[in-house]
Amino acid sequence: MLSVRSLFLMGLLCAVEAAPRRGRNGGQRQQAAAQTAQQQADQIPQGVSTATDGSTILDMSAQVNGQTVRFKVSAPADQFTTASGVDGATQDANAAGTLGLNVLLHGDGGQSFFDFPNQAVQDNLAGVAILAPDENLFWGGGSGLDRTDGVAHAQIVNDLVQGVLPQVLAFNGSSVSFTGVSGGSLLLSGFFMPAHMGNFGDAAAGQASQVLLNCGGLEPQVDVDPAAAAALATTRLHFQSTQQELALLQPAIPAAVAAYEQIVSGEGLNAAAIGALQTVDNSPDGGHCEFDEQDFVSGVQLMADSFSAIMQGGDGLLDGTNVNVLNPVPGNEDLAFSGAS
Ligand SMILES: *[C@@H]1O[C@H](CO)[C@@H](O)[C@H](O)[C@H]1NC(C)=O
Repeated sequence: MLSVRSLFLMGLLCAVEAAPRRGRNGGQRQQAAAQTAQQQADQIPQGVSTATDGSTILDMSAQVNGQTVRFKVSAPADQFTTASGVDGATQDANAAGTLGLNVLLHGDGGQSFFDFPNQAVQDNLAGVAILAPDENLFWGGGSGLDRTDGVAHAQIVNDLVQGVLPQVLAFNGSSVSFTGVSGGSLLLSGFFMPAHMGNFGDAAAGQASQVLLNCGGLEPQVDVDPAAAAALATTRLHFQSTQQELALLQPAIPAAVAAYEQIVSGEGLNAAAIGALQTVDNSPDGGHCEFDEQDFVSGVQLMADSFSAIMQGGDGLLDGTNVNVLNPVPGNEDLAFSGAS
């Protein structure tokens, strides 16, 4: 799945870094020189830069469960820890901060990691993006709907947010939200949410995290942990697709919608409560992730710009449009598509 994106990213990196292109005729000598998407990504320097809202972006790597994992954090400089090395940092490691986080998992090939569409602090959430530790830059590894490394990758996301990020940034651990793009949405809904959602938000206090699943969704592929189910009963969840979604995802997304409805129904929520918590839309007349009806990159940026309006009690409109996406899940599980991309 999403090989077009992957190839696009590889092409982009080739252009930027003049890395050798993968041989097309399959000759073994040529294949020896080909680089994986991950090797090409490794050539893009890490370090400190300035975000679109003037925040500071730190792009770095850390060891998580024996793997080298690259990630970006975007926040006002004074919220970073002094150990992070960011100029103007003031915080001690593990200091409690007031900012929450919006953690983005990119689609296959890593495009949205490099674009970092959620880099501007929005409604008190600082942006984080994590690069999949996979040679193809696929979250969950594998391909298509079969994410063979989903369990390990979900654990890495959990452990990075809980164990590594507090060494880098002061943030409010009870206010951690997630955004998936395509393959990132498959990892979140298929593996991360059922296993780890209980570690985020504060279910006991009724304080919601938010999860925005763009252009992808999977039924849980692992057992739903009871603490995760309890957390999901206070987690704001929105599924966003388009009229011409990838054929592969057209049955998968509605199945995920129904499965997550079932989980919170099992927690005792009635239809009205579920409709306030879980919403779904595929009205934009575009292809995969083309939420602005134009393009992948600008479509994903539109969803990031609309995060607060959709996820944090706003008007539910896609930014700059009159398209309201807050259709309650109960009664709207069976998405209709007009074609396939
Ligand atoms: C942390 O986030 C929770 C949930 O949004 C909120 O209730 C709490 O007030 C926040 N704490 C701080 C110190 O901002």
